[in-house]
Amino acid sequence: SFRKAVAIAMARLAVLLLSVGVCALIQPVRLLDNGLALTPPMGWLHWERFVCNVDCGSDPENCISEKLFMQMADVMVEEGWKEAGYEYVCIDDCWLAPSRDAQGRLQPDPKRFPSGIKQLARYIHSKGLKLGIYADVGLKTCEGYPGSYGHYDIDAKTFAEWEVDLLKYDGCNMPNWTLYAEGYINMSRALNQTGRKILYSCEWPLYESSHQKPNYTAIRQYCNQWRNFEDVFDSWRTVQQIIDLTSGIQKQIVPAAGPGGWNDPDMLVIGNFGLSKDQQQTQMAMWAIMAAPLMMSNDLRDIDPQSKELLQNRRVIAINQDPLGMQGYQTMKANSFEVWERPLSGGKMAYAVLNRREIGGPGFFPFTAAVLPSKKICFPQCNVTQVLPKYQELGVQTSDSKLTFLVNPTGTLLFTATPVTGRPSTQQDWVWPMDFEKQKKGRDPNL
Ligand SMILES: *[C@@H]1O[C@H](CO)[C@@H](O)[C@H](O)[C@H]1NC(C)=O
Ligand SMILES: *[C@@H]1O[C@H](CO)[C@@H](O)[C@H](O)[C@H]1NC(C)=O
Ligand SMILES: *[C@@H]1O[C@H](CO)[C@@H](O)[C@H](O)[C@H]1NC(C)=O
Ligand SMILES: *[C@@H]1O[C@H](CO)[C@@H](O)[C@H](O)[C@H]1NC(C)=O
Ligand SMILES: *[C@@H]1O[C@H](CO)[C@@H](O)[C@H](O)[C@H]1NC(C)=O
Repeated sequence: SFRKAVAIAMARLAVLLLSVGVCALIQPVRLLDNGLALTPPMGWLHWERFVCNVDCGSDPENCISEKLFMQMADVMVEEGWKEAGYEYVCIDDCWLAPSRDAQGRLQPDPKRFPSGIKQLARYIHSKGLKLGIYADVGLKTCEGYPGSYGHYDIDAKTFAEWEVDLLKYDGCNMPNWTLYAEGYINMSRALNQTGRKILYSCEWPLYESSHQKPNYTAIRQYCNQWRNFEDVFDSWRTVQQIIDLTSGIQKQIVPAAGPGGWNDPDMLVIGNFGLSKDQQQTQMAMWAIMAAPLMMSNDLRDIDPQSKELLQNRRVIAINQDPLGMQGYQTMKANSFEVWERPLSGGKMAYAVLNRREIGGPGFFPFTAAVLPSKKICFPQCNVTQVLPKYQELGVQTSDSKLTFLVNPTGTLLFTATPVTGRPSTQQDWVWPMDFEKQKKGRDPNL
């Protein structure tokens, strides 16, 4: 009867409301609650540039030693890196001695780190910077040094005693892939138990994804940042690969990012040997759009002025560090162009137009197409500012302005648009989370 149906409906509603209420009460924190990484972390990490160079005999300037990190810290303060926001000085693999000490603790290689990690941390802190360290959730690190498996608590305690500020936690040599979730979670808890705030950089989804779809709800709950894909190399090929893999699973990973937890597309390799000027701008622009941690791996003691200027570009960094903390996403792919957008605080939007063509000269990109499919932000008017390749105020535009951009092959145009009059922009102006897959496939007749 109608009455019965209503009664059942009411009962269901009551159960629903109750469960919502209970969930709100007992729901575990949805992000790693250590107060860190409210914007994407910035710093320097040794791996891509200095890999596992342990040969201090023949290469004392570039081997993995305390001297290298002290020198980087010095330069970071002296050359404006710290002022630009780069804060963490991070050790990667190959810092360890081949075995644990008598008490079962990890210990640094005594020849290369004669003062010990605690002293190094003190030095880094005296510069107003923070120290990052590296370990592995499995039996051995990727380069074969002692792993943390079975030692999570003691290792967390050791890092806290050394006053370390960040842990990059690799995933090589796990006895069984089914243990990754437990291992990463156990270490997260162990770090929390130390009482020291240590930024936790995971590779959990990277190692798990070849076996099963990673659970980003859980990952975000236990990690401050997490790698999804293989290592970046000093090459345009790997930078492109990371961009493509990111857009390929953006529906899965974009919603996971936000203050406290970030998708980590790996290090910035700007200032090394493999990327052209345009490709360096593409990496910087795309890492800003992707709300990526900005961990440089280069030689700050010897870097060309152009790369330095790009890495310290305050306007690009401001996009990366935007407090709204929403990761950008690809909205369109047409001919050789790709358009990405990232909603920013204050109703602003950042756009990246990437020219994937690897032949010919600069490509023409009409502004109307560029802001499409979220050109509503320019209705009735928006104020457009180009950030890369060079700063340029393009003034007030409308959704059908005839503005045209030139984008170099493998280069990226980065700009912002701010609504000028009428209403402030709202979430409705974003392509996300609407069905942009459909729009992505749509070809723009202007192109
Ligand atoms: C540990 O976790 C609790 C609960 O999530 C949180 O309140 C606390 O700030 C954390 N402590 C550290 C040092 O991360
Ligand atoms: C890994 O663990 C699972 C679940 O415990 C088990 O079924 C499987 O046999 C293990 N694989 C190996 C190679 O040990
Ligand atoms: C994680 O911790 C739980 C509880 O202490 C333990 O039972 C489990 O074996 C640990 N997992 C790993 C991979 O160490
Ligand atoms: C993913 O992790 C969350 C939080 O730990 C959990 O509540 C949820 O059940 C998990 N989802 C799946 C499909 O395992
Ligand atoms: C447009 O933005 C630029 C750069 O932020 C600013 O200098 C200018 O005043 C803005 N113009 C308008 C009309 O808002």
